[in-house]
Parts: sequence; C-alpha cells; structure tokens
Amino acid sequence: MLRRLNAEQPDNFAFTPANLAWAEAQITKFPEGRQASAVIPLLWRAQEQEGWLSRPAIEEVGRMLDMAYIRVLEVATFYFMFQLAPVGSVAHVQICGTTSCMICGAEDLVAVCRDRIAKQPHHLSADGKFSWEEVECLGACANAPMAQIGKDYYEDLTAEKLAALLDDMAAGKVPTPGPQNGRYAAEPSSGLTSLTAHADGRAPHNASAGLAIALGDTLKRIDGSEVPLVTPWRRDAPPDVPVDATGARGRGPKPAAQIPADQTGVTKQEAPEINAARPVGGAVVSSADDLPASLSAASRAAAAIAPDDAVRPAGLGQARDGVADDLTKIEGVASSTVAMLNDLGVYHLDQIAAWSAAEIAWVDQTLKGANCRVIRDDWVAQAAILATGQETDFSKRARN
Ligand code: FES
Repeated sequence: MLRRLNAEQPDNFAFTPANLAWAEAQITKFPEGRQASAVIPLLWRAQEQEGWLSRPAIEEVGRMLDMAYIRVLEVATFYFMFQLAPVGSVAHVQICGTTSCMICGAEDLVAVCRDRIAKQPHHLSADGKFSWEEVECLGACANAPMAQIGKDYYEDLTAEKLAALLDDMAAGKVPTPGPQNGRYAAEPSSGLTSLTAHADGRAPHNASAGLAIALGDTLKRIDGSEVPLVTPWRRDAPPDVPVDATGARGRGPKPAAQIPADQTGVTKQEAPEINAARPVGGAVVSSADDLPASLSAASRAAAAIAPDDAVRPAGLGQARDGVADDLTKIEGVASSTVAMLNDLGVYHLDQIAAWSAAEIAWVDQTLKGANCRVIRDDWVAQAAILATGQETDFSKRARN
C-alpha cells in the first residue's frame, strides 16, 4: 500500500493548550534520552486534534521529541492507524480486506464504499462526511467481515448492513458497535455450545461494545443526543464534553498530580487500578436471589429491571465549581471507573445517591463490561452515606 503525504498541506500545526499539556506529560513517561518513545501517542493526539496527520504536524512532533523528521515520517507512514490525508467529517471507514474477511464478503463491503463514498480510497464523499480505505487484518477474524469505523469495530457485516450503518451515521445517529447479526460476541452463529449459564443475566452488550458505549467517544457522544463525530479533545467538541483535571477534554493518561519524574526518569502514572476484590472475568451478579441481604431497596429493585427499561441517568457537563467528589471512596469504584463515570457526566456522590432503580440498572448493565458491580456493591447506598460526610463501613459488610 502506497502511503504518501497529502498533496495539499496546511501552513502550520500547533497543539491546543490542553493537548500540548497532555503531550508534554506523555514525554515525561520516558527516561531522559528516550523521549522518542512518545512518538506514537503524540502523532495520535495530533491526528485526534486535526482529523489527519499533516506534514507540519509530523514536523512539530519531531521537533518536540528531538527526532529527525524522516524518523517521524517513517512511523506515520508505516501504521495505517495514521491518516495522511483529510478524512470524512463523520467517519473514516476501514474495511478489513484480509483472508477471513475477504472470504466472508469484504469485497461486497468495499463495493458499498465505492458506491456510497468515493470510487477511490482516501477520497472524501461528495458531502465530505465519509472516506474509506481497505486495511489489513484488524484482529476480529471470527466476526468477519468487519470494519473499523471511528474508534469501534462493526462486525458480522453484510453490504446491506454496512449501507444502513452509513445511512444512520450520515443522519447523525450512532449505531451500536460490535456484531451486527445478533451475535453477542464471537460465539458460534448457532449459539453458545458451552458456558451457557453465563448467557443469563449478562450485560446487554459484550465487554468491548459495552465499554465503547460507556466511554462514548466514537461517533456519538453525550447523553444519547445525536451529535456528529466528535473526538472529545477536538477544538470543535461541544462545550458540555467533560473536562478533566488537567483541562483536557475526555480521558487520557496523565502524570499523577504533584509527582515529578523519579530518578529513573519514569513518572508515576494514573494508571487504572485493579480492584483485587473484583473477581476478574467472574460473573457479575444482578440476580435478586444472589444479592446481599443488606442491599438497599433501590439497588434490589434495579436488579429486576430489564435492559429495555433501564434509563441512562442525566449527567453534568462538568463538575460543579470544577471540583469533583472523590468517587473512589465508594467501595468498588477504582480510578479507572471514575474516568468512565466522568465520561457519563457523573462527578458527585449526590448524583449517584439520587439514581432511580432504572438508572442504577442502566449503569450496572453498561459498566458490567468493565467489571463494575453497581448493584451488588450498592453504590447508591454508599454514595448516600458518603455524601453526608460520613464514612461508610460498606467494605466491612458481609457480601453474601
Ligand atoms: S481477516 Fe479481517 S479481521 Fe482478521
């Protein structure tokens, strides 16, 4: 595949202040003299900001990392995650054209792109909303044929389904990512043949699709409203996209507050915490019969609510007065969970304490993929206590 810089280039490139702060924080992750290791995250952020990588952006990343421009160009042209020409304002469609997908109908999907978007890859559609290309295996071969659109995978596609997805996206809708033929994940198309007990009470979407929905940073984004493709930190992001403590929009790794690079040059990062109490990969319980007797009435009622009746709780655009509560005080909420809650517009204990049973059910079902147990850990009851300034003895309670 020939990958060249676009013929037309902007005069210059500059990171936005928030993205510049983020990029500089990335550089501190690496020991002195190894700053070049930050080349991929910086290029990615530049692309997230502009939609594609221009020559000035590549040169700016080289300047920041003290790298020869040709070395940065080598990276940018090697990986097809980097777009070297402007892409559609709504979505860039990457059709997998490798063996499994090709056998299962990738050529039909490419034909849809040629018909609906542009005859040639890397060309914009007439309305500027879409662009497309064929890429190598995206690692979802069991769900072939598939495409990456925005940041998510749309799997088990047919020409008709891809065309419908494009229609929805053009109309400002955000289709649910994941398998498009009714499959939950990559189980046999005829249904599960083992571990069938796990099909009961599972989250409405598989972990990948569920997390994509929870994070909400692919095509649709906030509060279920129909908004065009928005990468949260882009300059055209709506003003109600949450702003994190560094002033950047959306989630992203950052150095721990007040902790400088240590002697080795490695900065402690605010990496997701692993909750040792959480049975990784284990069943997440929502069955009322299997819940702790001490559970609040709201959480118990939530366990009986079907996915179709669950309601997404209203969120805030940002923390009140710019200061969020420490949600990690809630047993079962790790810092990685806080980031997801913030993405849902949840910053305060009293917000959680006020969730209705239907809202508890929605959050529980949505965050199951991230191993959160909103019902079982009775977040609402914990939040109600913590919101009054009292400590909760929840972690000392008998769970079963
Ligand atoms: S062959 Fe298409 S995802 Fe692997």
